[in-house]
Amino acid sequence: MTDSWWKKSVVYQIYPRSFADSDGDGMGDLRGIIAHLDHLAELGVDVLWLSPVYPSPQDDNGYDISDYQDIEPLFGDLATFDELLSGAHARGMKIIMDLVVNHSSDEHPWFVESRSSKDSPKRDWYWWRPARDGMQPGAPGAEPTNWGSVFGGSSWEFDEKTGEYYLHLFSRKQPDLNWENPAVRQAVYDMMRWWLDRGVDGFRMDVINMISKDVSLPDGRLNAGSAYADGSAAFIGGPRLHEFLQEMHREVFEGRDGLLTVGEMPGVTVDEAILHTDPDRHEVDMVFQFDHVWVDRGPDPWRLLPLQLTQLKAILGRWQAGLAEAGWNSLYWNNHDQPRVVSRYGDDSPAHRVASAKMLGTVLHLHRGTPYVYQGEELGMTNYPFGGIGDFRDIEALGQYRQAVELEGRTPEEVLTVLRARGRDNARTPMQWDDSPNGGFTTGTPWLPVNPNHREINAKAQRADPDSVFHYYRRLIELRKTEPAVAGGDFTMLLPDDERLYAFTRRLGGTELLVIGNFSGVEAHAPIDGWDGAELVLTNLDEAPKDLTLAPWQAVIYRRSV
Ligand code: GLC
Repeated sequence: MTDSWWKKSVVYQIYPRSFADSDGDGMGDLRGIIAHLDHLAELGVDVLWLSPVYPSPQDDNGYDISDYQDIEPLFGDLATFDELLSGAHARGMKIIMDLVVNHSSDEHPWFVESRSSKDSPKRDWYWWRPARDGMQPGAPGAEPTNWGSVFGGSSWEFDEKTGEYYLHLFSRKQPDLNWENPAVRQAVYDMMRWWLDRGVDGFRMDVINMISKDVSLPDGRLNAGSAYADGSAAFIGGPRLHEFLQEMHREVFEGRDGLLTVGEMPGVTVDEAILHTDPDRHEVDMVFQFDHVWVDRGPDPWRLLPLQLTQLKAILGRWQAGLAEAGWNSLYWNNHDQPRVVSRYGDDSPAHRVASAKMLGTVLHLHRGTPYVYQGEELGMTNYPFGGIGDFRDIEALGQYRQAVELEGRTPEEVLTVLRARGRDNARTPMQWDDSPNGGFTTGTPWLPVNPNHREINAKAQRADPDSVFHYYRRLIELRKTEPAVAGGDFTMLLPDDERLYAFTRRLGGTELLVIGNFSGVEAHAPIDGWDGAELVLTNLDEAPKDLTLAPWQAVIYRRSV
């Protein structure tokens, strides 16, 4: 299966709210994307993934969908969407949609109907349960399980009208759909076929490993100091997940070519991922795993751990080895839920920002798998200088803050320290197009402030500068097209115990690549033999290293024949 087109491709994620605003309302939109298609074509990416653009009350910025078959008016309409699709196709880029079907919005007509009465024909489209045995419905602690929601608070909402609770693993405006009900599954498949018929090229599937739940809904384990339990053992990789994904494949994808499917799967293990992505099993092409972005997170959610490079290498090395034969990796540092990688695993100070952004790109793109670039990553965009809780907009940050400070006795400052470093709004500040006020994102007031560093860090300046992060990413993407070992080579980790250098080889036939990234601000020597006289393919600094001694944050790619 080495000829699967997406193995040679790079995907670019657009978060439409924050990409480009064409009409001055402070919110990005489809016409804004259309206006910047040439930026993406110049970068050389093959696929655009659009975060949700469907009608939505925007409780979770569009991940709460009230109509799966239309476009949110803030963003445009179906005709504009078709224009975007043909504009991308004309430039040789595909478009995949975000598929958010673990839950809908509580304003979706399905849920409105479901909540209307216990006898509603759609009652069973969601997870309704009575209060805990012997408890007064609606009383504190009477929730059907002790699970906490991802966004803080209980994962059950009491509904006065019928005296029952509904399940929402995320916000109370995101009720979980009941995939046990075949009518729900058929409605979802219908909708997916409708988008494919319209011309879209696949789906990124939101928290898709949560769609199958243990129907007995057992209580979770309560950790000391938390108000609610972690129920995930009952809904991550649930009993019917493989069956549902195979059914979806049969019903939606069979007989259609040229598509890409990627399942977002928090908590997925390597062994499960092999099963999900083995092409013979017909589930999805690749998954997003989370191990490498949870490496700086300990058992206490409100403590920051410094990056330990040996751990990061052990994790990614395990994923590389696990999916070497069957299945395929996705590769990402960033998306709309993660802080900016240059601020997280690199060094965003003026002295090292550019070098470390390029180094991180090099290491990621040279792994075996399909790389994803999140908007602004190709510019080395950084975290935002957030102050107090009032600066945050993200429902997760606000909900978790409330739970931690009001229910769990944390101090505002300890929670804020983590939110500033890890909060999702870091990724969501507007794209920095130029050095004008609001960074060329909008002529109005942006829904979330533009990072003040847009005067130095912006697309216009970087497109004009051959040494920029932008042009370096462009070269990395180009290398995947010109050097077959980048997409197809096997992967061998080197120096697993080195705390500064990330080193590995890729080999395909008679070609071998050596990739080294210095994850530190000090010079570091790589004790690797046999590469004297090898061809230097790419480095991120002016000077090539001597004897494999890399300058701070330096990255190198060498090539030799074997
Ligand atoms: C996924 C999305 C995230 C969203 C959540 C609920 O993790 O990436 O942004 O909040 O699912 O839909």
